[in-house]
Amino acid sequence: MVFFRSVSALSKLRSRLVQQSSLNSSVRWLQIQTSSDLDLHSQLKELIPEQQERLKKLKSEHGKVQLGNITVDMVLGGMRGMTGLLWETSLLDPEEGIRFRGLSIPECQKLLPAAKHAGEPLPEGLLWLLLTGKVPTKGQVDALSKELQSRAAVPDHVFKAIDALPVSAHPMTQLATGVLALQVQSEFQKAYDKGIPKSKYWEPTYEDSLSLIAQVPVVGAYVYRRIYKNGQIIPKDDSLDYGANFSHMLGFDSPEMHELMRLYVTIHSDHEGGNVSAHTGHLVASALSDPYLSFAAALNGLAGPLHGLANQEVLLWIKSVVDECGENMTKEQLKDYVWKTLKSGKVVPGFGHGVLRKTDPRYMCQREFALKHLPDDPLFQLVSKLYEVVPPILTELGKVKNPWPNVDAHSGVLLNHYGLTEARYYTVLFGVSRSIGICSQLIWDRALGLALERPKSVTMEWLENYCKKSA
Ligand SMILES: CC(C)(COP(=O)(O)OP(=O)(O)OC[C@H]1O[C@@H](n2cnc3c(N)ncnc32)[C@H](O)[C@@H]1OP(=O)(O)O)[C@@H](O)C(=O)NCCC(=O)NCCS
Repeated sequence: MVFFRSVSALSKLRSRLVQQSSLNSSVRWLQIQTSSDLDLHSQLKELIPEQQERLKKLKSEHGKVQLGNITVDMVLGGMRGMTGLLWETSLLDPEEGIRFRGLSIPECQKLLPAAKHAGEPLPEGLLWLLLTGKVPTKGQVDALSKELQSRAAVPDHVFKAIDALPVSAHPMTQLATGVLALQVQSEFQKAYDKGIPKSKYWEPTYEDSLSLIAQVPVVGAYVYRRIYKNGQIIPKDDSLDYGANFSHMLGFDSPEMHELMRLYVTIHSDHEGGNVSAHTGHLVASALSDPYLSFAAALNGLAGPLHGLANQEVLLWIKSVVDECGENMTKEQLKDYVWKTLKSGKVVPGFGHGVLRKTDPRYMCQREFALKHLPDDPLFQLVSKLYEVVPPILTELGKVKNPWPNVDAHSGVLLNHYGLTEARYYTVLFGVSRSIGICSQLIWDRALGLALERPKSVTMEWLENYCKKSA
């Protein structure tokens, strides 16, 4: 990738890592930092001009290159397979799954700094990677942790705005309300009102984005404690990293839950640009709405059952299986239950995907976590049975393009194991994680001066006439 300048040091480590990777040609990403610079902002400041030049060159030299044909099916089918967005922080391959700045999930687990030896990656490290394209050092990650802590104070009016909602409001409604209430502090909006030039848009976007990422776990934890723990709020603990502190504020302090939260936030952060939440954030921000407005909109998309809410649906569905068939159900009973779900016109939550065509690597790493930490958990064993039972049934249906499990099929049983049993809350965890990916890209959107989104829409009549003419 031209993105990175070559680095000569640490070549031993590099060649070891290259050997570990089975991805020969795609190891171009691997650039280990030699810089001792701990400041993310100044790193970005250095990177942005070269990326602006790169985009300019791409436009001027290749602007007219065709990327494929748009069919009527694509227009009617939710724009599947239509390349139409620039999204720098991650790329999804249908067979292989997500890569964050070129790194697969197992590679992130190996390369990103962890809280302990061979532990799960720290989400701050992923944030650094998404923003700079470089694997950070532990020192850089610690500095970023501190910076996020220093930005984490949430103004009181945000809690009051949430308190104005009934406690029975869905946790995602409460989270999105809180994020929208955070907007009054937007540095981007203030700077825009003062007439900031376009070339500087990225700076207040960076300020808003880091503050939002820092504050959203506090808001998320407030929602949880308000709904499920009689409003007994647990203050943040500045000695903890981002994932562990979030877990702590929710009320879960076991070392395993801290590890799970680090992994959870890391793998849910970003999934390229076309999914509903990422695309919504990007679209809204393209109108120069600030990161708070854009991310609140993204959360509303994440709250839909075909997207982020599926993690809630999965645990509720799994519990309904146990209620009907008991914990020690046979595979035959399980098959019958899956068919019953399908015949009642519902989807099997946690299976299928708009882009992926194999088991989601985000599912696999959660499965590995479960095999390591909770192999005997009865619900984990049920999830494993579903992995065997559901794909052949969905294949038999004949219309499902991807019968394999996605990220949401697994997360609930892990959280449930450590005591976070309230399934209705699960999408909030997903939302907190997504702030990292969506805001990272928003900073680059402004740094690269990406355009207002305005695709063309047509009517059925227009399509009918067009097809008649071209027949
Ligand atoms: C994720 C999802 C929305 C992708 O939708 P998609 O891109 O339209 O998927 P497909 O092209 O494979 O869909 C073709 C058909 O199979 C159905 N299908 C797909 N996944 C299914 C599932 N898990 N259970 C039952 N039917 C499913 C679709 O509903 C569609 O049916 P239709 O033609 O009658 O409308 C879909 O797989 C789904 O609803 N999964 C369950 C919800 C879920 O887990 N969401 C989280 C995604 S990360």
